Amino acid sequence: MEKHLRILFVEDSPEDAEIEERDLRKGGLEFTSKRVQSREALQAALREFKPDLVISDYSLPGLDGMGVLQIVREIDTLVPFIFVSGTIGEERAIDSLKSGATDYVVKDRLAGLVSKVRRALREADDRQRQKRLEQELRQAQKMEAVGRLAGGVAHDFNNLLTVISGYTELALARTAANDPGRSDLEQVLRASEGAAALTRQLLAFSRRQVMTPIILNLNQRVNEMGKMLRRIIGEDVELVTRLDPGLGNIKADPSQIEQVIMNLAVNARDAMPGGGKVTIESANVMLDEAYVEEHRDAAPGAHVALTVTDTGQGMSAETRSHLFEPFFTTKEQGKGTGLGLSTVYGIVRQCGGSIEVLSEAGQGAMFRIYFPRVEGRVESPGGTKMMSAPPKGSETILLVEDSEALRNLVYSLLKKHGYTVLIARDGEEALKVSEEHTGTIHLVVTDVVMPRMGGTEMARQLLRSRPATRVLYTSGYIDNATLDLEAEILKGAFLPKPFTPQDLARKVREILGTPA
Ligand SMILES: Nc1ncnc2c1ncn2[C@@H]1O[C@H](COP(=O)(O)OP(=O)(O)OP(=O)(O)O)[C@@H](O)[C@H]1O
Ligand SMILES: [Mg+2]
Repeated sequence: MEKHLRILFVEDSPEDAEIEERDLRKGGLEFTSKRVQSREALQAALREFKPDLVISDYSLPGLDGMGVLQIVREIDTLVPFIFVSGTIGEERAIDSLKSGATDYVVKDRLAGLVSKVRRALREADDRQRQKRLEQELRQAQKMEAVGRLAGGVAHDFNNLLTVISGYTELALARTAANDPGRSDLEQVLRASEGAAALTRQLLAFSRRQVMTPIILNLNQRVNEMGKMLRRIIGEDVELVTRLDPGLGNIKADPSQIEQVIMNLAVNARDAMPGGGKVTIESANVMLDEAYVEEHRDAAPGAHVALTVTDTGQGMSAETRSHLFEPFFTTKEQGKGTGLGLSTVYGIVRQCGGSIEVLSEAGQGAMFRIYFPRVEGRVESPGGTKMMSAPPKGSETILLVEDSEALRNLVYSLLKKHGYTVLIARDGEEALKVSEEHTGTIHLVVTDVVMPRMGGTEMARQLLRSRPATRVLYTSGYIDNATLDLEAEILKGAFLPKPFTPQDLARKVREILGTPA
């Protein structure tokens, strides 16, 4: 990807400039050039010609070398700058370097020019790459920090929501169908469902969402969503799909993948109020070291790329730099929450993928997502088994939960369904309760994240003395410390927060088996 070089000569003698040009071309450099000799022409050329390199004489009529250097540095702090002069002395040469010149060459020893130019260009390239990497690192750190914040808030929020919706459902169950207070309670329930959806998005962004990944094929997902996509996009916008029939598989949570495609499609539609075209493409792509070096988030190897392109209004560099931040939106109040792309970002990163965005204002936009390709056959998503019988039981359950409100709620729910319930506030207390209890404990229902001792460590210890006991984890989020939990999640002994009383009763019964 050799870019075309532009060199600006600040030189009053056309002959001298010509000699220098010829030397450079003889040395194998290809470039376009421009020659200026006045302050005004120099300033204009820096802004419009945008040189990759400036070669300047040291003494020009009406302008001295240091003056030229100063003008250049005012407009472009980074462009390599080389003095070529017959008159520059050792001392002044050193002064010029201190003032920001890159190098200097004495006119009657022009032989050194080519190598000095090459070195200056190479160093400028390195500086630029360095600058870009630093920028990307800062961006990544910012996203990490915002993610931690969002994840933390969402975790506590989930507990509160489970309590709010849980008690509301209990109250509703006790309220007669014609009670005037009923619709108030239903409003509370609806609002808490809305809040739960919001927390799910925040968790997705912070990559702490509990997911159930399976091997799937993107083409299949796009095809299945076809009808819905068309309806969302509307009649003014044409939808084109170009799917590679030999597309490899990926490992991801199918509902999350659908959310990614949907969020991108909705954004594309919003960017084309006057109509246009959305193209959804899939392809197998091999990412090489060169690509990875340019894209900090990407990993080398076989990938499956999903590209969504639109012909809409595009975006400015400023918008692009905030794109994935939660709550960043350019849409008017009430139109967008700014969570669409942050959700996409979280999901893609959690799958080990990366995102590339190309867009200019007025030029449409292209979002390309690279998912790591996996071997293996497509799996079908496991549906949750519904049970019609009232999920009651009489077994003994140890409930471990640090949030008091939630503990009380779950306690009364389980009691109501006929279970004997023991309670503990954290892992350590749970072990003590287990030790002191002489009868069977059929099931432990435990939070994952708790002070002193978390759920997974507690379960490991408890199972040593009670190997037949089953464990049900409940959590609003997962983090690195609970990675081994993923195995449990896949086995199904996991209940994501917030959950409804029905969810809980059904899950408990599912684990304990049908009552005798
Ligand atoms: N295809 C696109 N073309 C132009 N701008 C886009 C495109 N996709 C996203 N953007 C810009 O990025 C911003 C953030 O997008 P994001 O999906 O995160 O939030 P939103 O669409 O504003 O709100 P939400 O998705 O929560 O309803 C948008 O407000 C818009 O400025
Ligand atoms: Mg959006």
